[in-house]
Amino acid sequence: MKIVKTIAELREVLDAEIRKGKQIGFVPTMGALHTGHLTLVKQAVSECDFVLASVFVNPNQFNNAKDLERYPRDLDKDAQLLESVNCELLFAPSVKEVYPEEDKRRFDFGDLETVMEGKYRQGHFNGVAQVVSRLFEMVTPNKAYFGLKDFQQLAIIKNMVKQLQLDVEIVPCQIVREENGLAMSSRNTLLNKEQRKNASVIARTLFDSCNFVPETTIEEIKLKVFKRINQVEGLEVEYFEIVDGNSLQTIDNWNESAYIVGCIAVFAGEIRLIDNVTYKNTDHEY
Ligand code: PAF
Repeated sequence: MKIVKTIAELREVLDAEIRKGKQIGFVPTMGALHTGHLTLVKQAVSECDFVLASVFVNPNQFNNAKDLERYPRDLDKDAQLLESVNCELLFAPSVKEVYPEEDKRRFDFGDLETVMEGKYRQGHFNGVAQVVSRLFEMVTPNKAYFGLKDFQQLAIIKNMVKQLQLDVEIVPCQIVREENGLAMSSRNTLLNKEQRKNASVIARTLFDSCNFVPETTIEEIKLKVFKRINQVEGLEVEYFEIVDGNSLQTIDNWNESAYIVGCIAVFAGEIRLIDNVTYKNTDHEY
C-alpha cells in the first residue's frame, strides 16, 4: 500500500487509476483504526475497483481542545491495518495541506444540526462538513463509506452532498460491536478496563428497550434507558432521543414515523460514547 501526504501525490495516483476507468472507493477516517473502520474498507473493496482511506485528525470538528489533544494517533499501526484489508492507498495529509488557509465556510443544515450531537457539540458538524467536502474535492471518489454509529453525521454528510451537488454516493455501513456489545469507536481505547466493562450496558439497554416497543410510550422508554444506564458506576447519559431517522426530530408516539431511531450519548468518566438503535424501519434503505 502506498502512503501519500500531499494532494499532488494523491492526484498522481488517482488520476492514473481513473484513466484506467477504475471506480474509486473512499473511507475517510481520523485514524486510531479498529475493526469498524476495517469493515468499511472491506465493503469498499468488495464494491469498488480502487480503494483508499484517509487518516486526518480534523481540528475543526473538535469543540474541546482536550478532546483533540488526547485523540489517539498511531499512523504506522493504521497503515498496517489498512494494508491487511487490501486498501491500496493511504492519504495522510497535514493540517496545512487540508486547510492552506482558515476555512471560513458556514454550512446551514437547519434542524438536522440543532439536535443531539449538534446541540451538545457546537460547531462540530460545521467542522465535519468542512473536512469531508475538502476531502471529497481532493479525492473525487465515486463512493464514500461511513458508519451508522455516527448516525447524525451520516445525515449531515448526505445533506451536504445534496447542497453542494457532489457526484458521490454515500454508503452507510452497519455498526460493528465489541464482544460485549459496545459500539466500536477509536475512543474505546481511552476507557480503562472497568469503564469498558461498564459501558457494555449502553448497547444492552438499547437492545432491551426494543422489546418494549410499541406497548410502552416513548416517554417511558426514555426514562427506563436513562435510569438503567445512570445507575451504573461512572456512567452518565448526556442525551437519549427517540427520533425520526430522516429528519432527526423527536417524535411523541410510535405511529408518527416509519423510521424510528434511538440515539444516545453517554459519558464514561471523561470519555464520551455514542450509539444508536433502530426501533422501526419500514420505508428506508438502512
Ligand atoms: O467519523 C469520523 O471519523 C470523522 O468525523 C470523519 C468523517 C472522518 C471526518 O473527520
